[in-house]
Amino acid sequence: MSNVVSSSRSVPLVDLKAQYASIRDEVRGAIDEVLEGMQLTIGPNVRAFDEEFAAFCGAKHAIGVGSGTDALQLVIRALGISAGDEVITVSHTFFATVEAILYSGARPVLVDVDERTFNMDPDAVARAITPRTKAIMPVHIYGRTVDMKPLLAVAKEHGLQIIEDACQAHGSRLDTGGMAGSAGRASAFSFYCSKNLGAYGEAGSIVTNDDELAKELRSLREHGQSVRYYHPVVGYNARLDELQAAILRVKLRRLPAWNARRAAIAARYNELLADTAVITPNIPTEGRHVFHCYVVRVPDGRRDALRQALAERNIGTGVHYPVPVHLQEACEFLGYRRGDLPMTERLADEVLSLPMYPELSDADVELVARTVKDCVAGAQRLAA
Ligand SMILES: Cc1ncc(COP(=O)(O)O)c(C=O)c1O
Repeated sequence: MSNVVSSSRSVPLVDLKAQYASIRDEVRGAIDEVLEGMQLTIGPNVRAFDEEFAAFCGAKHAIGVGSGTDALQLVIRALGISAGDEVITVSHTFFATVEAILYSGARPVLVDVDERTFNMDPDAVARAITPRTKAIMPVHIYGRTVDMKPLLAVAKEHGLQIIEDACQAHGSRLDTGGMAGSAGRASAFSFYCSKNLGAYGEAGSIVTNDDELAKELRSLREHGQSVRYYHPVVGYNARLDELQAAILRVKLRRLPAWNARRAAIAARYNELLADTAVITPNIPTEGRHVFHCYVVRVPDGRRDALRQALAERNIGTGVHYPVPVHLQEACEFLGYRRGDLPMTERLADEVLSLPMYPELSDADVELVARTVKDCVAGAQRLAA
């Protein structure tokens, strides 16, 4: 994929510096306030952020924790899922989704995804249910929400819990009308730095409407204590810290505008890349995609060549993710083989994430799309 005019301007996959520049004074003010007060663990900012994030998700409770992985792990533990149980989820996800299930001793049962949405196939879920199934864990991949109505029906019919992995979907809408995270018994969010709502370090949150569960999760995040230094159960050190909470409060106020900009960029990319050899993502209506990643498919084994050609022209890209979880070395003991989840495996070979962040200018979106088109056309000419 050569013979294409090079651009001197570079466009990264994600630009955290651009976002920081737009909120620098407010973030610094918030950090200073925490440092002046020296209340560094659970304090006014964590309590306020928990309330603000719960309200944002339209849920009763949010429990700030150390990461999205902590969030998933604590929910699984609080729901009593353990060795001998099965949890149905997808292989087309970040490894932590499955890791959190494995920590509990339960078996992750991995199902294939739908070609149009990249999300859990509800028919595959129904087929995977056994007497040992305790929960279904849909992952709103790239920020597009899973069709929850069929899953909620299947869960109800079989008495199963739903745990939403909403780690990539802050502010995305569900087909139920609520926000991502509001339909499961409890849901996990990650505030990893590059997420739509990202901390300046590690952070996460659990969202639930269940008062009892929320109480238990608040205890589990602090070593299982009920009152300070009294520990009815063994818990974890999984607290959100005050500095991250203060930063997240500043950023949460901007999230709806940032998500709207991401959606506009995605729509523009789709327009500019129509009628090319790359397959653009399907865009659902009603705010059901917040484009944590903008992911195209590059068929016919040409993804890596296109990626290389774009890198040579200073366009950053990503592959989310190159090896599906069921084919990871660490998961060999689960006994999956290549060919078990055909669509998941195909996506791992074809997906390519293009630059996506709210500060991306219209000119840069056009430059990226033009460069993709040039590289693809150049490759076609060479192949002809
Ligand atoms: C789908 C998904 N699940 C879980 C996680 C884990 O979150 P964290 O990195 O905050 O532990 C992530 C974050 O990268 C994710 O994208």
